[in-house]
Amino acid sequence: MTIQAAQFAAPGVPAEVLQVRDLPQPQPGPGEVLVRMRVSPVNPSDMMFIRGQYTLQASCPAVPGFEGVGVVVASGGGLRGRLFIGRRVVVLNPRGGNWAEYAVVPATNVIPISSTLSDQQAATFFVNPATAWVMTREVLKVPAGQWLVQTAAASALGRMVVRLGRICGFRTFCVVRRAGQADELKALGADHVEVCADEASVRELTNRIFNVTGQGGARFAIDAVGGPLGSAVVSSLGRNGRMLAYGTLSGQPLSFHPRTLMTVGSSVEGFWLGNFMAEKSLFFRLSLVRRLTNLIRSGVLHTDIAGEWGLNDVRAAVLAAEDSSVRGKCLLRIS
Ligand SMILES: NC(=O)c1ccc[n+]([C@@H]2O[C@H](COP(=O)([O-])OP(=O)(O)OC[C@H]3O[C@@H](n4cnc5c(N)ncnc54)[C@H](OP(=O)(O)O)[C@@H]3O)[C@@H](O)[C@H]2O)c1
Repeated sequence: MTIQAAQFAAPGVPAEVLQVRDLPQPQPGPGEVLVRMRVSPVNPSDMMFIRGQYTLQASCPAVPGFEGVGVVVASGGGLRGRLFIGRRVVVLNPRGGNWAEYAVVPATNVIPISSTLSDQQAATFFVNPATAWVMTREVLKVPAGQWLVQTAAASALGRMVVRLGRICGFRTFCVVRRAGQADELKALGADHVEVCADEASVRELTNRIFNVTGQGGARFAIDAVGGPLGSAVVSSLGRNGRMLAYGTLSGQPLSFHPRTLMTVGSSVEGFWLGNFMAEKSLFFRLSLVRRLTNLIRSGVLHTDIAGEWGLNDVRAAVLAAEDSSVRGKCLLRIS
C-alpha cells in the first residue's frame, strides 16, 4: 500500500524543493505507533529543516513535519501503543515525517488530546504553548510587576507570551519589525511595543529598553532572532539579567563584548524545549499537558490560524507561511 507525503530530495527553498510523492506505507516497530495524520502546522523549524539550516540535518529524501494531530491506527507492540489505538493524539515527531498521510513515531511521542480542542488547536498544542509557558514560568519565573523583553513578539509564540503576561502579572516589552503589529499586540495586552524596522531603530533599541523599563536594564529577556537585534537586547540586560536564546530567525549570530555580561553579571542561556522536557518526570509532563489544555481552551495559549492547505497544495502553504502579510499559523490539512 502506498501513501501520499510531501518530500524533498535535497535541502533548498521549501516552495521549490517540496514535492508530493507516493511512498510505501510505514510500519510501526516495537514501541512505535502508526498514526493517520489529520493536521500539521508549518512551523519555522520545519522551514529551517527543509532549507538545511536546522540543528537536525535531514537524511534525504526526507518528509518534514515535527508537530501535528492524528489518530493512532496501529501499534507495533507494547502496552502504551495498544492503549492508544483509536485515540486522537498530538504527534511530536523529532525526526520529522508528519507531512504525510501516515507517520510512525515512538508511542512515548504521542499525547492523547482532549475532545474539547479542535484539530487546529490540537495540531499546534505543544511546541509553542509549552515553550511560552516553560520559558516564562518554569525557567525565568518572571515575577509579577517585572518587565520581560521579547523579540519576534508578533509570532504565534510571542502572542502567547503577551497573554501570559496579562494573567501572570509580568509586563511585556515587545519588539516587532512591522509598524502594523504594534496595535494588534497592544490590544492583546502588551505593555510596550517597539518597532525595529531598520538598522537605526535596532541601534537605538538598547537605550529604549533602558528608558522604558527604567530599572537599570532588563532582568528578563527571550530572543528568537539573534543578529544585531538579539545582540542589542543582550546589551540591555541589567544586574543579574538573564536572556534565553531560543530561535535563530535572522540566521545571524549574537555578537557582544564579554564585558557586556561581566560588569553586570548578566547571562545568555540557550533554551531548547526537547532538552528541557527530556529531564522532566512523567508527573511534570502530565501536569503540563493538563495546564496547556486549560490555557489553550481559555484563549491564553490559543494559536491564531491563517488557514488550511491540502497536502497537494504544500507549496502554497509554505509560501504563505513565509509571507509577512499572512497573519497566523498555516496548517496542512492531511485528512
Ligand atoms: N527553542 C525552542 O524549543 C523553540 C520552541 C518553539 C519555537 N521556537 C522558535 O520560536 C520562534 C517563533 O516560532 P513561531 O512558530 O511562533 O513563529 P511564527 O508564528 O511563524 O512567527 C515568526 C515571527 O518571526 C518574525 N521574524 C521572522 N524573521 C525575522 C527576522 N529576521 N527578524 C525579526 N523578526 C523575524 C516574523 O515577523 P513578521 O510577522 O514581520 O513576518 C513573525 O512574526 C521561532 O524561531 C521558532 O523556531 C523555539
